[in-house]
Amino acid sequence: MNPMQMLKEAILSKGKAINQDVLLVDSFLNHQVDVSLMKAVGDAFAAHFSGQSIDRVVTIESSGIAPASFTALAMGLPLVIMKKQTSKILKGDLLQTTVRSFTKGTEYELTAKREFLPAGEKLLLIDDFLASGEAAFGVLNLAQQAGCEVTGVGIVIEKAFQPGHDRLVRAGLDVCSLARVKSMSEKGIEFVD
Ligand code: G4P
Repeated sequence: MNPMQMLKEAILSKGKAINQDVLLVDSFLNHQVDVSLMKAVGDAFAAHFSGQSIDRVVTIESSGIAPASFTALAMGLPLVIMKKQTSKILKGDLLQTTVRSFTKGTEYELTAKREFLPAGEKLLLIDDFLASGEAAFGVLNLAQQAGCEVTGVGIVIEKAFQPGHDRLVRAGLDVCSLARVKSMSEKGIEFVD
């Protein structure tokens, strides 16, 4: 079975729409992690992006780490995890920008060390969900501060009824979403195409 089919089957059999906006997938992506599925996901992103000149994979902690790790492994590239919480040991020349999450109603300082984003590099962002695109635009902001360019975005599950995809495409990015959810309710989950 191809990775996109595997992912859709996992969403249909294990995902739960809490309401029309939020999909619970903590049995294979956000809490317990199906690493075989994540390996397939990483291979699918590598197949899509491998023809492009990319220097580094980036993600945001915490649920982006599994798919991003397998992508970086498949592409033979370094991986940088952007932080949502600063700490006493996160020191040095830090890049920061505020990200607001509409889904969770929270706000955090997205943070990365400048030394792990060398100027001039092309970055591939991998993340678990795409909703409004706020987290992705936060990564674009940090990349710009570092003198890097995000050229591609790989998303495991996109909520296609929210504006993130269109915003990123309008910004000139190659967006590859493996599962595009058109709508969801207690009755079921529907995918785009
Ligand atoms: P945006 O970045 O596209 O604008 O998304 P938004 O702010 O609305 O959501 C941010 C957080 O909410 C992210 O998690 C994202 O993974 C999660 N999220 C968004 N929609 C859904 C959904 O339908 N189901 C689930 N399960 N999560 C959703 P985060 O705060 O970064 O958490 P984590 O990565 O530590 O798990």
